[in-house]
Amino acid sequence: MNAILTLLCLLSIVLSLNALTFSPDEISQVTNGRNFKGRVVLVTGSSSGIGEAIVKLFSLLGAKVVVTGRRAAEVKRVAQEAQQLSPEKLKPLEVVADVAKSDDLERLMDETIKTYGKLDVLVNNAGIYKIAAFSDTKNYMKIYDQTFQVNVRPVLELSQLAVPHLGKTNGSIITTSSRLAEHPMPYGSAYCMSKAALDMMTKALALELGPNIRVNSINPGLTETNLNSDPDVDPALIKALQTTIRNKTPLGRLGSPLDMAKAVVFVASTDGQFINGANINIDGGIKDFGFN
Ligand SMILES: NC(=O)c1ccc[n+]([C@@H]2O[C@H](COP(=O)([O-])OP(=O)(O)OC[C@H]3O[C@@H](n4cnc5c(N)ncnc54)[C@H](OP(=O)(O)O)[C@@H]3O)[C@@H](O)[C@H]2O)c1
Repeated sequence: MNAILTLLCLLSIVLSLNALTFSPDEISQVTNGRNFKGRVVLVTGSSSGIGEAIVKLFSLLGAKVVVTGRRAAEVKRVAQEAQQLSPEKLKPLEVVADVAKSDDLERLMDETIKTYGKLDVLVNNAGIYKIAAFSDTKNYMKIYDQTFQVNVRPVLELSQLAVPHLGKTNGSIITTSSRLAEHPMPYGSAYCMSKAALDMMTKALALELGPNIRVNSINPGLTETNLNSDPDVDPALIKALQTTIRNKTPLGRLGSPLDMAKAVVFVASTDGQFINGANINIDGGIKDFGFN
């Protein structure tokens, strides 16, 4: 009896080892996972910061990219730099657009499809960060409205416009949320709520849009961009916050735009093809932000 059991155990080990053998297709997929040649990637808020790094990294990896933002000169600069990084020197599509305007979003999608004929990856990255005390009755609701008009509504609207196209390409929606989606910050309630909305949107849409479309967010920790240089905020306060966050981050530094871009590329790549409905923290492991 014991001999039979041992034999069955050995057989199951052999069978499970067999199941771990990679097929030629799987081997080719993992070795080419970061090759985005022939894929079309649209990144909102790609005229600076995290979006700039995302669009440039996709261009470096062979994708046809769309650079967009409100500042025409910055859109042009990023497009030129992304073209230099492209292995085939592909010229990005440039679209100057305000995500808070529905007409601009429609034009952005129309121009993308007219130029490239399809869409593989939509990165909803444009966002603003404005602070106001809840007790500031003069400004709070204004800042709340502005924040949701840029950080939330356009993400839903543009994703809706993208869905018919992404459905045809087994595409992917990736949204730049924030660690502050789940970590409240004093005076930042409008921003934190807007990012919490994006986290829930990600999880809810992932349920609706499978099996053809994946929906995920990356949730950056404090990252070195211009987002935090609000002219209304004392630069000394920003510096102090950066020092606190750096000291409390196990990896001992703030995030870089390229850190965030690498995560977006990973989620969009075939390596990420079973990642869906996830809010992925990219933050050097910080748990305590030091402000509560
Ligand atoms: N930096 C951080 O610490 C951090 C942390 C967590 C999450 N995030 C998120 O990361 C994303 C990118 O921010 P960032 O840090 O890279 O800041 P950033 O350098 O200020 O970039 C913001 C981008 O959003 C675009 N944008 C803003 N309002 C827009 C509008 N109405 N229409 C079209 N584009 C608009 C800007 O382009 P134009 O000015 O040309 O319009 C710019 O390209 C945001 O969603 C932000 O919430 C940042």
